[in-house]
Amino acid sequence: MSKMNLGVNIDHVAVLREARQVNDPDILQALYVACESGADQITIHLREDRRHIQDVDVKNIMAFSKLPVNLECAIDKKILEIVSKIKPHRATLVPEKREEVTTEGGLDIFSYEDETRYAIELLHDSIIPVSLFVDPSIAAMERSKELGAEMVELHTGLFANLFAMLHSNLPHSNHSVKEIEFPRYELSSRLEKALEDIKYAATHANKLGLEVAAGHGLNYHNVHEMMKIEEIIELNIGQSIIARSVFTGLSEAVKEMKKLTTR
Ligand code: PXP
Repeated sequence: MSKMNLGVNIDHVAVLREARQVNDPDILQALYVACESGADQITIHLREDRRHIQDVDVKNIMAFSKLPVNLECAIDKKILEIVSKIKPHRATLVPEKREEVTTEGGLDIFSYEDETRYAIELLHDSIIPVSLFVDPSIAAMERSKELGAEMVELHTGLFANLFAMLHSNLPHSNHSVKEIEFPRYELSSRLEKALEDIKYAATHANKLGLEVAAGHGLNYHNVHEMMKIEEIIELNIGQSIIARSVFTGLSEAVKEMKKLTTR
């Protein structure tokens, strides 16, 4: 089986910092600790609204990271210009809506085909490999290939939500996912289908010559399901690692995730 790379998304350290608009916690300290504790890649998202990562963070992280940096960004002219200048090891194109709490779905490469192609070409002009954050469907894999991406990141949000609704207290909490408040047998069959979709999409993408990553909502309880899919060679994980670090420290949280994601 191929090696699994762990991309640690450190956006949430900046979320905490921006909540107070101070310089604490220090994003560069998070970078060092993640690098020293087993991360294979650092993932950050420069949002148009700059709600967490700031331009200066991207510059500093690029300058000081010992690991490759995967920079997530929206298809937006100004952001793409910044990314082209900064030249991260990879750019991942993601959808962005101002009112969303987090990235809610994959990039709609069918409705925004021309814009996506333009963004990929622009990034390629600056020799930046491109990944597309898309929903796990065969059609999305084929379109991603046609558009010229090197990689796809499969959106695992639906899988993660179904898993949590079935295997945790989520349905009884304030954060129950209303759209999938189904009986357990229904959740179970939908979860199976969501996993199958990820598996089929990964296999198909792999056959097309695309590299395959996955991410969103992955945590210490559900990540084993991704480990079974050998075509997936990278996982980008943020929320669960930073959440655990509140109790264990970031180093321990990254090490624990690395242990679960080692093949
Ligand atoms: N991958 C992409 C493309 C994302 O947008 C995000 C969320 O910022 C993640 C992975 C990480 O998701 P989570 O924070 O739920 O682990």
